[in-house]
Amino acid sequence: MTAKISVSNQKGGVGKTTIAINLCSALTKKENDVLFVDLDPQGHGTEGVGLESKYTSDEGNLSEVLLDLEELERINDLVVEGREFDVIPSNVDMFNLEPQLITAVRNKERLSMALDQLECSYDYILIDCPPHLGNLTDNALLASKNILIPALAEGTSVRALEILLDQITTLERAYETEIKKLAVVANRVNPNNQAKEMMDWFNKAFKDRVPIFEVRKRVALQRAWSAGVSIFAHSEKCDMEDKFSEIADYLKEVDYNE
Ligand SMILES: Nc1ncnc2c1ncn2[C@@H]1O[C@H](COP(=O)(O)OP(=O)(O)OP(=O)(O)O)[C@@H](O)[C@H]1O
Ligand SMILES: [Mg+2]
Repeated sequence: MTAKISVSNQKGGVGKTTIAINLCSALTKKENDVLFVDLDPQGHGTEGVGLESKYTSDEGNLSEVLLDLEELERINDLVVEGREFDVIPSNVDMFNLEPQLITAVRNKERLSMALDQLECSYDYILIDCPPHLGNLTDNALLASKNILIPALAEGTSVRALEILLDQITTLERAYETEIKKLAVVANRVNPNNQAKEMMDWFNKAFKDRVPIFEVRKRVALQRAWSAGVSIFAHSEKCDMEDKFSEIADYLKEVDYNE
């Protein structure tokens, strides 16, 4: 069985890409086969795993696969063996994908159908989502049926999370499915009053249903991204390795929606 997880929050810059890459690495270190899918046309995830040449290459990308129901199995040609785990990179062409999907049939289920065609079997597939709600994020949520939500421990997170949870409910109703909220990762936590207020809010909003992990603000995470690796593969030691390892352990225990 493959556990598929969308790392998603339409709010920009909350740490989706950083958390997705470092969790892929933490899961790989625990002897899992992992695929990282960069579904964000910005391609920060692709850059963060050292594959920026793929972002501008014209060798083919997810746009062609997702826009043509006859081409879904070509997803297998897109898988790249990365430094730490397998990757389906993003590409600058993917900025055109969302508008082109608007009129396509089954336009929110294309990624799900494409992932079903993967020949290689993985223990985990993590999907790095773009910073907006729209067709690509809907595709990720319906393909994975599981979401991990990174959020900043600050006041602006409240409305973003309410909107995200509404969208999940809308999709669940429209597609008669369940999208499981696996965890909230409060990111860039820098203990102060506002962080505490927000952690209280997260706890009230999610507590009994989903665990909340705290990732601290660490410049080592930025430097690892710039070096095109996770903190596990970066020369600089970072105390957040233990945190990502703890989240990976939790992800190994969860009952997933398939
Ligand atoms: N815990 C952290 N400590 C310090 N810097 C961090 C942390 N998490 C993320 N960052 C930095 O914050 C910036 C935004 O992070 P990231 O790109 O992961 O967010 P994102 O949600 O994927 O952004 P976008 O919405 O643009 O896709 C990056 O420069 C990243 O290196
Ligand atoms: Mg990102």
